[in-house]
Amino acid sequence: MLSKKIEAALNGQVAIEAMSSQAYLAMASWAENQGLSGTAAFLYRHSDEERLHMLKLVKFINERGGRAVISALKQPGTNYSNITDIFKTLFEHETKVTNEINKVVDLCLKEKDYTTHNFMQWYVGEQIEEEALARTLIDKLNLIGNDKGGLYLFDRDLEGMSSAPADQKKGA
Ligand code: FEO
Repeated sequence: MLSKKIEAALNGQVAIEAMSSQAYLAMASWAENQGLSGTAAFLYRHSDEERLHMLKLVKFINERGGRAVISALKQPGTNYSNITDIFKTLFEHETKVTNEINKVVDLCLKEKDYTTHNFMQWYVGEQIEEEALARTLIDKLNLIGNDKGGLYLFDRDLEGMSSAPADQKKGA
């Protein structure tokens, strides 16, 4: 059974994952309108993955005797100056998400809720992967600079690139 404090913290995380999904959906749409079809495909997938992160939390809360709350979402940013701006925004967003996950993990230890602590380790691992990927993409974009040929190849490479770690793709 979840304590009220843990239930509230997990519901906070439900909202954060939903906001992530919404933010990446807005970025995907922006990229699609710019003709960056590979980047758009990558971001649409990323948005779907964030929804799965949210669902995983919803199901865990309900299974543990809590009540998952589906809240309203703020409209995400819709204007980006360029593709580097997209990935910098994504990276900054993910570092904030990591901080929030760390707070939930910390609370689990304080409340001695080792089951939820164990559950949250999946999110801890996920954040390491996502931050590393975002950093790599920003580095590549910095190398490319204003080279249109480089940008074309970057976008093409993103078409088939997954933003999910291997275990998530298997539906873990
Ligand atoms: Fe839900 Fe971007 O990690």
